[in-house]
Amino acid sequence: MSLIKSEIVNPVIEEYVRSLIPKRNDYYENLHVFAKENGVPIVQPEVATFLEVIIKSSNIKKVLEIGTAIGYSTSLIADAIDDSHGKVVSIEVNEETYKLAKNNIENQDFNCPIELKFGDARDVLSKIDDKFDMIFIDAAKGHYKHFFDLCYDKLKNKGIVISDNVLYKGMIASDKYVIRRKKTIVKRMRNYLEYITSQKNLKTTIMPFGDGVAVTYKMEDENE
Ligand SMILES: C[S@@+](CC[C@H](N)C(=O)[O-])C[C@H]1O[C@@H](n2cnc3c(N)ncnc32)[C@H](O)[C@@H]1O
Repeated sequence: MSLIKSEIVNPVIEEYVRSLIPKRNDYYENLHVFAKENGVPIVQPEVATFLEVIIKSSNIKKVLEIGTAIGYSTSLIADAIDDSHGKVVSIEVNEETYKLAKNNIENQDFNCPIELKFGDARDVLSKIDDKFDMIFIDAAKGHYKHFFDLCYDKLKNKGIVISDNVLYKGMIASDKYVIRRKKTIVKRMRNYLEYITSQKNLKTTIMPFGDGVAVTYKMEDENE
């Protein structure tokens, strides 16, 4: 079976945009090289800068992340927060990558503290009582709706949820891109996108860059 390759962004444009992103310091460069050499998926460069701009421009101080991997996005989120009293809490289910992230983060200074949690976010989230300005979902694509439901009450009024990889190589947009073994993930992600775009109390924008990024704004809840 021949597969139709989807490019969410025209590769020429993507390469040009990436060429404009300043090089990061050695800490980030080394994580980037490690991720590439070991096949660890980390945020794409333009998604990384997008997170930084959102955090800084919206004065975000407390962030919950689902999917730490080796701590690349966790680190840049902590560095983007302009408040030493801010905090990043990040959850990772894979013990090996959790340990790598811990090791990477341990001897590094960030703008605010990072708290790593080991375990399946679907279990760990129920043990977190804090409220957050932003939640970054970047973990198993088939479970975004579960993650969203479990962390919704941890999101402050006027807070945002950023969900990465929501167009998943174009497969979410059209069946012609779908690989058979990804059918369940595709179905679940479509349900997730339909949900976050149709709720009265949410305003969601889906942006076709990187692997697709959704930003969901939580409107004022009168009960809070
Ligand atoms: C795309 S990577 C995260 C990349 C990271 N956010 C970055 O940009 O540097 C996804 C990670 O989510 C983790 N993960 C998948 N399902 C999870 C779950 N149910 N709970 C916690 N972590 C999970 C995977 O083990 C993997 O390390």
